[in-house]
Amino acid sequence: MRIAVFASGSGSNFESLVKASREQGWPGEIVLLVCDRPGAKALERAERLKVPARSFVPKSYPDKAAYEADVLHLLQEYRVDWIVLAGYMRLIGPTLLTAYYGRIVNIHPSLLPAFPGKHAVRQALEKGVKWTGVTVHLVDEGMDTGPILAQEPVPVKDGDDETLLTNRIQTVEHRLYPEVVLRLIRGEIDTDALMKQREEQTTCPSDVR
Ligand code: GAR
Repeated sequence: MRIAVFASGSGSNFESLVKASREQGWPGEIVLLVCDRPGAKALERAERLKVPARSFVPKSYPDKAAYEADVLHLLQEYRVDWIVLAGYMRLIGPTLLTAYYGRIVNIHPSLLPAFPGKHAVRQALEKGVKWTGVTVHLVDEGMDTGPILAQEPVPVKDGDDETLLTNRIQTVEHRLYPEVVLRLIRGEIDTDALMKQREEQTTCPSDVR
């Protein structure tokens, strides 16, 4: 299985995935890093880890479809089977979703459906919850809404700030994400069934004939 990781920022999850895939002898390989921010630290990690990387400037395209068409072309060139989102702060549009339906996975720093979006850790602190966590899920057209594959709780401690809580969450992410991606590429999860089930749940009753 050939995997592309998409990242926008630091890329610590990207690095933990690359290391796990190499150290644990996965039946698959991370063949590409796709980055939508040219200065992102993830690109430095890719260079150090010797993973081919390509950065895009989405703003330089007329629309999301044109941007994703270029990304798709690259994924086809690298014969990518799976897209693993790791801190990729952009909604996946119809172009990539159609081409990789049921083969895009994301990690999110909360117990979804709580705190979707870009500021999950800050929102957990603001709400004063005692527990937050990590969710790994398949990607659909919504914002952090696809079928959940794994979740793990993380405590919020007195005196936590965003950095302390993010670090505690990411320690879990760096272990959990490789575990789930390995199960996916081994074919141990019936992603087609999960996506189909989700479609049925979201179909409006008046659409059923
Ligand atoms: C991770 O904590 C990931 O869960 C989060 O971004 C961080 C990226 O860190 N993703 C989201 O918030 C998605 N909505 P990294 O670049 O060091 O892997």
